[in-house]
Amino acid sequence: MALYKEMTTHMIGVGGYLPERVLSNDELSTMVATSDEWIRERTGICQRHIIAKDQYTSDLGAEAAKQALQDAGLTIDDIDAIVVATTTPDLIFPSTASIVQHKLGGKDFPAWDIQAVCSGFVYGLAQVDGMMRGGMFNRVLLIGAESMSRILDWQDRSTCVLFGDGAGAVVLEARESDPNHEGGMIGSVLHCDGSYRNLLMAKHSHPGAVPGEDAANLYIDSAGVAAVEMKGNEVFRVAVTKLGEVVGEVLDKYGIKQSEIDWLVPHQANIRILQATAKKLKMNQDRMAVTVDRHANTSSASVPLALNHIYREGKLKLGQLLLFEAFGGGFAWGANLVRWSKD
Ligand code: COA
Repeated sequence: MALYKEMTTHMIGVGGYLPERVLSNDELSTMVATSDEWIRERTGICQRHIIAKDQYTSDLGAEAAKQALQDAGLTIDDIDAIVVATTTPDLIFPSTASIVQHKLGGKDFPAWDIQAVCSGFVYGLAQVDGMMRGGMFNRVLLIGAESMSRILDWQDRSTCVLFGDGAGAVVLEARESDPNHEGGMIGSVLHCDGSYRNLLMAKHSHPGAVPGEDAANLYIDSAGVAAVEMKGNEVFRVAVTKLGEVVGEVLDKYGIKQSEIDWLVPHQANIRILQATAKKLKMNQDRMAVTVDRHANTSSASVPLALNHIYREGKLKLGQLLLFEAFGGGFAWGANLVRWSKD
């Protein structure tokens, strides 16, 4: 009988990338009927970054990955797999992960995308952790990368003010579990309820690609691509409820008290949603990673970008307990627990 070693997944490198162009609320107010005051009050957003004309999601992902590799002291040759969580792939196929692999100079190892919209990174972390515990990979690049600005209707003030572009990445390493050395991924919980699918979506831009749907119903914006449609206040209500539930669930599942959490690293959709989750956990806001004010909602990139932010500020200390959570289209939502093991 084969003997398997018990493995634990560790985060050994963190990186992020934001495109140069910053779009402020004031500038946005010249494009659509909104105001800096309304956006700040209702969402906490002050500005967002916008991808350049000649950039793609894979470019953002590759830049974030380079920084994460450098942080880990590794090169692409040390990597066994690349997983990219994205809602805004460069192409329908091939995967953005395969393009990122090529841009990083990698070859011959698996690369694939996952799609769980704003929960993509949290889903990806759960998936890769499971594979690494099972002994499938030693080192994986997990990236969340988005160019949300490409799937927005810039005439729709109820959605275009909310999103931004960017990418975050982590290098994950499987190490033999050591009972004397607590650290690394603890575990995850994931959920999806497709009955909510119509509250937040971007329909396909190709009329033939949505079987049975009347092509005239498809929203095609001026750029000829699909655009985000959302029933904002309904999404808000469900997000607050489900995130409150899922943080409780992941703590119960792994026998951890809420007072043990050092850092909440939430998906950055709306400051009021973040605050509601922090309140539920009885956590001070200074223990919560916040980037929504500067990045807006970068979908699957928001959690790794928030992690990168507190990491680069030197706030993470060895042994601290981090709770990641996210909620988005589907609805799909989830949470991960990680004990920080990087010096
Ligand atoms: N600027 C100015 N006014 C705006 C506006 C904007 N950008 N967007 C909407 N409004 C108006 C609406 O037209 C509405 O006007 P009315 O009362 O005259 O009809 C009013 O503001 C209130 O709209 P409402 O949608 O009820 O506001 P809200 O307080 O729910 O805030 C969101 C709207 C979108 C900010 C909020 O619902 C939200 O954050 N939802 C969750 C979004 C989310 O997280 N999505 C991604 C999940 S991953």
